[in-house]
Amino acid sequence: MRVFITGGAGFIGSHLCDALVARGDSVTIVDNLSTGSRTNIAHLGAKIETIIGDIRDVALIEKTVAEADVVLHMAAALGVSTILESPIESISTNFTGSEVVLMAAAKFNKRIIIASTSEIYGKNPKQPLSETDDRIIGTPQKLRWTYSDAKALEEALAHALFLEKKLPVTTIRLFNTVGPRQTGRYGMVVPRFVSAALEGKPIEIFGDGTQARVFCHVADAVNAILALVADDKTIGEVYNIGGVGEVSIKELAERVIARTNSQSTITYTAYESAYPAGYEDMQRRVPDTTKIRGAITWSPAYSLDGIIDSVADYFKSK
Ligand SMILES: NC(=O)c1ccc[n+]([C@@H]2O[C@H](COP(=O)([O-])OP(=O)(O)OC[C@H]3O[C@@H](n4cnc5c(N)ncnc54)[C@H](O)[C@@H]3O)[C@@H](O)[C@H]2O)c1
Repeated sequence: MRVFITGGAGFIGSHLCDALVARGDSVTIVDNLSTGSRTNIAHLGAKIETIIGDIRDVALIEKTVAEADVVLHMAAALGVSTILESPIESISTNFTGSEVVLMAAAKFNKRIIIASTSEIYGKNPKQPLSETDDRIIGTPQKLRWTYSDAKALEEALAHALFLEKKLPVTTIRLFNTVGPRQTGRYGMVVPRFVSAALEGKPIEIFGDGTQARVFCHVADAVNAILALVADDKTIGEVYNIGGVGEVSIKELAERVIARTNSQSTITYTAYESAYPAGYEDMQRRVPDTTKIRGAITWSPAYSLDGIIDSVADYFKSK
């Protein structure tokens, strides 16, 4: 297969590159290196075609889509810090950029997977969250919701293209996905905690630490994505992809300290001090993965300890 990955130099995109190259597919990526990096794909060398460019470049995207069999649309502006510090650029990438990629896929009738997010569900207190659950979103002036809103419009456009133009699209909603190559620079909690623990620095919890999450290892997410692409029954559908085992952020910090034998202490910072205005957090976000487990033979293999060890090994190897 000739696979085109947008955002292929990013965290999840680069792991998709690894898996596809390993099985003999040909891979082309377009990435503007805003949050991704050449380091993530350096080991692949000439095994993939790397184009440094922007997904809003219509001519580039149309040409690259036309030459591919499958498009995996992973490029996005994400991370709480990115969204709050560069809202205009983030909205533009997440909505306009996704529109360009989707319209190109529709123009050339290509199989496409789009990466959406659990942020779609916003503040819906119902847990676990399943694919048909409502979106409960704050006011647009709380800019953290622009990520959710842009992804929701992207999903809606994909669905409309499926209905009106028979676009072979599958939408995935990734819950917290973690693993090697994820950077803590943009606010991602696991790499931030593990790198602090390995350096013996204080582990800084934003808020009181009672907020809870479920983490999924990137290798498990990649297996799910590749199984969904391979199965035409998934066309036109939306799937949650997430791990098992809910953990509070305080428990996560304690677990990271234990697994890395760290002397780090835990500190607490109020949200108002940690983030620019416009931030609000959800207390819980638990994926209901019944639908994907029914559609493909998949379940996440990594435990939380396995995830922490994998991230710690990555930082130690750097
Ligand atoms: N990691 C998670 O927990 C998670 C959760 C939910 C959804 N997602 C989604 O998964 C996808 C991949 O996320 P990730 O965690 O690998 O993040 P990432 O930041 O590592 O990857 C995104 C990539 O897109 C690139 N990019 C950004 N804007 C671009 C533009 N305008 N043109 C070209 N390239 C651009 C970045 O440089 C980066 O390499 C995203 O769509 C994201 O919204 C991730």
